[in-house]
Amino acid sequence: MTVIVTGGAGFIGSNFVLDWTAASDETIVNLDKLTYAGNLENLVSLDGNPQHIFVKGDIGDRELLDRLLTQYRPRAILNFAAESHVDRSIQGPGEFIQTNILGTFHLLESVRAHWTALPPEARAHFRFLQVSTDEVFGSLGPTDPTFTENHPYQPNSPYAASKAASDHLVRSYHHTYGLPVLTTHCSNNYGPYHFPEKLIPLVIVNALGGKPLPVYGDGQQIRDWLYVKDHCSAIRRVLEGGTPGATYNMGGHNEKPNLEIVQIICDLLNALRPRADGKPYQDQIMHVTDRPGHDQRYAIDATHIAQSLGWTPAETFESGIRKTVQWYLDHPAWVANVLSGSYRDWITRHYGGRA
Ligand code: NAD
Ligand code: DAU
Repeated sequence: MTVIVTGGAGFIGSNFVLDWTAASDETIVNLDKLTYAGNLENLVSLDGNPQHIFVKGDIGDRELLDRLLTQYRPRAILNFAAESHVDRSIQGPGEFIQTNILGTFHLLESVRAHWTALPPEARAHFRFLQVSTDEVFGSLGPTDPTFTENHPYQPNSPYAASKAASDHLVRSYHHTYGLPVLTTHCSNNYGPYHFPEKLIPLVIVNALGGKPLPVYGDGQQIRDWLYVKDHCSAIRRVLEGGTPGATYNMGGHNEKPNLEIVQIICDLLNALRPRADGKPYQDQIMHVTDRPGHDQRYAIDATHIAQSLGWTPAETFESGIRKTVQWYLDHPAWVANVLSGSYRDWITRHYGGRA
């Protein structure tokens, strides 16, 4: 048996591929375009392992998709591939429309043609799993109830809108054609291999590099953090036990304001890798101009997946963030390679002109 993942060289996708190959002997074909966010160094431990087949390519390439589906006859496709950074979508939404909307459309079309031609039993067991986000639900006020699966879609950034559009396409392929789809909505992930344009890895890397720790606005925006390995285990549960057409919310029960996250990371680093001058990393915190249209709060109600599939996260925020900080301390070469030319260009473009 074989599954195909898209975007399996990115942060969550590579964690998923690594966990999958550790937990099962089923072949995993990994289709990734290797944008700035794709990094084969994440998968170096699988070099020479025939269970992992890497294919460099675009989810918008119909010819390639058709060929892969014919060649590998997968029992499932898991769509992780996306442009994923909100700030980049604000600077330039074009790639987000291209990959997240049009790419998902081409992927769905290819999968539909393949699935339609399968024998009845294989059709019934086939799954298309769409990895979506809680951001499609928009922003919550401080006392609003957490997002359930029935929360209306109210995306606020070009990134969130493009993910919302792709979710709607996925839903429509189930409703119209009967394609057995599953959609997952996860809250903010953190953990190993997280690209340091996102808050948690950026703060760790900047702290160690003696650079400012940029906090947008007052830092009181709230996210619900989930350790990436828990997201991967939730996706595996949904793939094996989820009901076609259903959607599943996943969260860590870890609502925290950004400033508190930054303080926690500073405290861990103060203990694990004290600054040479003996001063706290907190001295590097710098409030900068807020993100336009910044969502105030995300929070997930994960009751449905807990009750229907028995999934709950294994990590608390305290255990997960300690592991994460330690991982970055233990992998200076990975960090150094990531902080290369194109990464520096982004940092200059994004933070350079910010007050
Ligand atoms: P990421 O940016 O780290 O990785 C995305 C991967 O997709 C990269 O390897 C990139 O090369 C690949 N890719 C981009 N465009 C492609 C294309 N056209 N064809 C093939 N591959 C392409 O993203 P991530 O943080 O790992 O997120 C993975 C998925 O999970 C995304 O769909 C994202 O919306 C969703 N998600 C992310 C989070 C989070 O906190 N990071 C939370 C919930 C959901
Ligand atoms: O909620 C799930 C989403 O989480 C995913 O769908 C996205 O792909 C993922 O990027 C993430 O989106 P966020 O915008 O919440 O993540 P980010 O790490 O960019 O920012 C987290 C919070 O920290 C957010 O409120 C903005 C703030 N922030 C971020 C950066 C990069 C700062 O204060 N300073 C920064 O420099």
